[in-house]
Amino acid sequence: MRRRQFLATTVGALVGVGTSHRPVLAAGPSVSIAAGPTTAELVGAGLPKTQVWAYNQSVPGPVIRAQQGDELRVVFENGLAEPSTIHWHGLRVPVKQDGVSYLSQEPIAPGGRHLYTLPLADAGTFWYHPHVNSSEQVGRGLSGVLIVKEAPSIAARLGVDREIVWAIDDWRLDEAAQIAPFGNRHDASHGGRFGNVITINGRQDLGEPVRAGERVRLRLANLANAQFFNLRFQPLDPWLVAFDGHPVEPTRLGDGGVWLGPGQRADLVVDIDLEPGAYAEVIDISYGVDEARAIMGWTVSDMAPLRQTARPAPSTLPANPVPEPDLENAEKHSLVFEGGAMGGMTQANMNGRMLDMRALVEAGRFWSINGSVPADIRSSPPLLDLALGKSHIIRLENRTRWVHPIHLHGHSFLVSDPRLPDGSPKVVRDTVLMAPNEVTDIAFVADNPGQWMLHCHVLEHQGSGMMGTIRVG
Ligand code: C2O
Ligand code: CU
Repeated sequence: MRRRQFLATTVGALVGVGTSHRPVLAAGPSVSIAAGPTTAELVGAGLPKTQVWAYNQSVPGPVIRAQQGDELRVVFENGLAEPSTIHWHGLRVPVKQDGVSYLSQEPIAPGGRHLYTLPLADAGTFWYHPHVNSSEQVGRGLSGVLIVKEAPSIAARLGVDREIVWAIDDWRLDEAAQIAPFGNRHDASHGGRFGNVITINGRQDLGEPVRAGERVRLRLANLANAQFFNLRFQPLDPWLVAFDGHPVEPTRLGDGGVWLGPGQRADLVVDIDLEPGAYAEVIDISYGVDEARAIMGWTVSDMAPLRQTARPAPSTLPANPVPEPDLENAEKHSLVFEGGAMGGMTQANMNGRMLDMRALVEAGRFWSINGSVPADIRSSPPLLDLALGKSHIIRLENRTRWVHPIHLHGHSFLVSDPRLPDGSPKVVRDTVLMAPNEVTDIAFVADNPGQWMLHCHVLEHQGSGMMGTIRVG
């Protein structure tokens, strides 16, 4: 582990909120995002650079910051050699702005431009990524964090001194530090494409400079294709204050830490109760405590503590304006997920034709939802038709041997999440983890008309059948 000498005040002054090592775009109604190839120093200075695909030449892309209630305009320019789009993960925007090729828009051809106009109803930590050839485009580096800030008087309730963003990602690199090829069928039928290098804000950097006694808001986002993280912060014990952008009653993480599946985000309030000059690791225990690995660390400056007294719990942030579903009278639906290695799926329907497993494998399809796999999203009928303005409960049933982070576009939903440290019965999410054989109900008001993606955020599962659409109208 490397320790760095740090002048916390200087760094703080230079970058204002956020010590992301990446450029931060000024808050404002309009930003430009260009996708294109570049190189990145993923494995460290002096070692070979990795050829990546990046937004604005940076992996991850720039942190976009805007204010709740703003209408954010993003001019997207596609400098890739293949079509692309940008999807705004977790933002409840009109379907035309959702960035899903064919459902929202034609994919943007190489050299093309597109304007997204995003009404920002909800505050929170969100992210953006392509929705075309997702496993490869995201896996080569196209992703970034989007922060919708609460009004300053509301944010002040957390009592934080400043904010830090950690965009967590993993990469599968070969010995020359280049990105390994995509399209691996083993990944698609098993747990997805795991990497062998973990980065935070695009670097393998084990030192986040902090000052003793300060309180930071830590915004975490898991941008990996398939990797889950279970982060433990001991000896610190942060407060979880929001998940997937949506506020929760502040709860200490405790020993269990926080689980982040691909696509999920968590906002923590961390009191740096460490001595000046100290170093403390942040570990990932997703493979168990015995296999813990350090993914980051706090490098505490030598400056005198900012304060000596313990801080009170942060107050709860106000909920986002997500309509409350009427659980009593909600319409009930069900989605059954099957397939994958060791899953025992024998057949599935692909655009009206029943295919046996061999034919499915030949077509690169390993997963089904309600017995069907989409051949392509334009011609496949929606999985469900939901009445606009009504409350709905969808029962998700995982009949596979794998964990799946299931993401719904255009809506945030209520779900019970046993993994939350406080065991909150109902929390608002846009992505929910479904353990093997688990049955999970999600509930929401279908208030956003359109045809919306619902898919696994293990991008190799998404690409091999674990996706479909839901029509609200
Ligand atoms: Cu984060 Cu359909 O995507
Ligand atoms: Cu999956």
